[in-house]
Amino acid sequence: MTNKITKIGVLTSGGDAPGMNAAIRAVVRACVHYNIKCVGIYEGYKGLIENNMVELDARSVANTINRGGTFLRSARCLEFIEPEGRKVAYDNLVKEGIDALVVIGGDGSFTGALKLNNEFNFPVVGIPGTIDNDINGTDYTIGYDTALNTVVDAIDKIRDTASSHNRLFLVEVMGRDAGDIAISAGIGGGAEEILIPEKDDFSIDRLMESLAHSRKTGKTSSIIIVAEGKKGMNILEMRDYVHKHRPEYDVRVSVLGHLQRGGAPSCTDRVLASKLGVGAVDALMEGLSNVMIGVSHRKAVTVDLNIALDKNRKLDRDLLRVADIVSL
Ligand code: F6P
Repeated sequence: MTNKITKIGVLTSGGDAPGMNAAIRAVVRACVHYNIKCVGIYEGYKGLIENNMVELDARSVANTINRGGTFLRSARCLEFIEPEGRKVAYDNLVKEGIDALVVIGGDGSFTGALKLNNEFNFPVVGIPGTIDNDINGTDYTIGYDTALNTVVDAIDKIRDTASSHNRLFLVEVMGRDAGDIAISAGIGGGAEEILIPEKDDFSIDRLMESLAHSRKTGKTSSIIIVAEGKKGMNILEMRDYVHKHRPEYDVRVSVLGHLQRGGAPSCTDRVLASKLGVGAVDALMEGLSNVMIGVSHRKAVTVDLNIALDKNRKLDRDLLRVADIVSL
């Protein structure tokens, strides 16, 4: 396919992430740059099915780069999982004269984009937007850096009260399938232990040993970071276990939850989103489809969407080693 694109649709789907607005803005302005039209689709695939769209120009994305969330709003759309739903979405794309779609989201959103392409040969490009950083083939996803800063800020505050009361805090962070937030925020926040979904071998015994070691070496308070997707005991069961077996610990639980997804994007996320948004329109204008625009060694790169969805993404073992060493 050569440069036949005259109108691009853009949507945000799945969990929102700070920097999504900056990515939409970059897509819109790259379309202006190429002198083609851009249509924003509200609420992800739901808006495609309901034909809920708006034409966007350079001015309609003014004052959005600094805003968290997504002004196009997002949704997890069950109808789009069904072939009938995707047919309605495709018919609306054709009706509106949209030639290609930019999907900003995570793995679920990319899976939907691939299906749309496979069934209707419709050009799609993905931009990784999720705080979890759990997409293969890109060093970073949009929103991850902001979420890390939010989590580290929260840990710093918890540390103040933990040390004042000689307490042990179990802090739960987001990351359904990936421990990226937990590892980096754990190192940045000076945690004693970091529990993640990818490391099944982490047992409660190791945690108890680690606590005993901390006590022996003179630590009076401790912070343990627990990724929400960690296998085995949940955070409340862990609290009860520690409480039962080491009653000398005054244990508290803090679940950070959705505050991790909010807030103004960091400059790093704004720059990343701008780079990937422009890269996505560049890719479509070059005739590419079924690719994600990711970042590797600071450069925008194109990655096959199937590779982006590879579940065997490697964990950064070096970072785990660093975490072990610096938490002594
Ligand atoms: O965006 C990804 C994520 O933050 C996961 O870490 C978390 O499990 C999930 O979203 C929760 O999303 P929701 O509240 O939208 O179901």
